[in-house]
Amino acid sequence: MTPENSPKTISRRKMMLGVGGVAATGLGAWWSGRSFFSSDVASAEAAVSLRPLMIPPLIEGKNFHLNLNATSRQFFNGSKTPTYGYNGQTFWGPTLRWKKGDVVKLNVTNHLSETTTAHWHGIHLPSTADGGPHQPIAPGATWSPSFKVMNDAATYWYHPHMHQSTQKQLTMGAGGFIIIDDESAASKKLPRNYGIDDIPLVFSSRRFKTNNAFNLSKDIAYGDYLLANGVINATHTVPAQLIRFRILNAEVERYYNIGFDNNRPFYVVATDGGLLNKPARVTRLRMAPGERYEIVVDLSHESVGSSLEMKAYNQGMPFGAGGSEPAMSGPFGSLLNNTTFTMLNLTVSAPTAGAITSVPATLAANVLWKNSDATRRRVVKITDNGPGTPFTFDGKAYSMMAINQRVLLNTVEAWTIKNDHVFGHSFHIHDVQFALVSRSTGPIPEYEKGWKDTFAILPDEVVTFVAKFADYTNSTHPYMYHCHMSNHEDGGLMGQFLVVKN
Ligand code: C2O
Ligand code: CU
Repeated sequence: MTPENSPKTISRRKMMLGVGGVAATGLGAWWSGRSFFSSDVASAEAAVSLRPLMIPPLIEGKNFHLNLNATSRQFFNGSKTPTYGYNGQTFWGPTLRWKKGDVVKLNVTNHLSETTTAHWHGIHLPSTADGGPHQPIAPGATWSPSFKVMNDAATYWYHPHMHQSTQKQLTMGAGGFIIIDDESAASKKLPRNYGIDDIPLVFSSRRFKTNNAFNLSKDIAYGDYLLANGVINATHTVPAQLIRFRILNAEVERYYNIGFDNNRPFYVVATDGGLLNKPARVTRLRMAPGERYEIVVDLSHESVGSSLEMKAYNQGMPFGAGGSEPAMSGPFGSLLNNTTFTMLNLTVSAPTAGAITSVPATLAANVLWKNSDATRRRVVKITDNGPGTPFTFDGKAYSMMAINQRVLLNTVEAWTIKNDHVFGHSFHIHDVQFALVSRSTGPIPEYEKGWKDTFAILPDEVVTFVAKFADYTNSTHPYMYHCHMSNHEDGGLMGQFLVVKN
């Protein structure tokens, strides 16, 4: 019997579907943070056996070693699942903690039998250190880039970026968090005890084959089982105080509409590239693949021993949001599609010494780029060549030899991304952190008003961002921009740009 159709899985879905109201429809209701699904499925979910959340080990300093290995992990009874992990992990890798201003050196050794790369997602660095498709690491080889940490304190990540193998290597489990600290952020009263009140969470889903291996077919956009830090049905104990979660959506295509049971409000404190100027209070948070948000939840009034759940309120997402498709199987179906499902179970314990119990009123003094700051404008269209053909930018499939855009050093540019298509995407650009300045579907929500490197773009939506391309030029080595849905990226929805002196 396959895990896909085991009784356990079917009953889990029934439990999820058997409760709750009918979703209000419409984009506005979905992403403005309003609730449309208020029932509590905690009692039904309690029947599912919970497993402890894995907290990735932390490495700090200036000189880092990452060793990528093929390994395996026990997800189900019977055969282990072949996986990839760094530094002895059976899934994912250690969290690298960097200090802004330090010069770091990364030594990445590839112990796989296939070529990989190590990309530092969100990091402002020279293109030759970026770890994109142009910096392959052959089996047995070590790659050792070094650069100055210039980004603000926030949550970033590393992952393979080998052209046409990104989806597979990510699905196998290769990736890890990068946490950058800086003095300004350190002066803010935010939780920062790693694993205690400051918890990294990488979410993704997997489909399993009958032999318990991950289904690695390129045609599979969604998994049936949610993994929280590589754990199915994960639970974690958190003290009764302010808790920070650093959340990464590492799905192939699925968006998450994140919230807590009982519509508990929470605060977004950081976007992809830094703290927000002030916390944004929400009850729902949309996240597309590749995006990171840091949130804080106030548990200081919870009783010890009580529990709560972080959920993806994905039932009723507009069509085009990854995972909104109704199908339960097949390439664009999954048991989690268009349903509300638990992402993480939490149990409350006694507060720690020095607990933080209130949300700071202000966090940063970012001066984000405005539309009027831009002196150069570009339009990039998401296209394809007819039904069933891969997505492309401006009608051209990705080529490692093509330079699609040339940017002049120190220019503030406005890039307008037009999605003329029937499906949503997740747009990401390397080298810079940008400000979103307009969305054709409505105002930019407060929680997106910070430095970003990745954003959701729905069908027919037009989104403009503004960025300054500073510090690094190279007349031959490009950076990438692409859809962070890794199957789209591998399929050609990627372009290259140079930052040049003249
Ligand atoms: Cu997360 Cu081009 O990368
Ligand atoms: Cu896409």
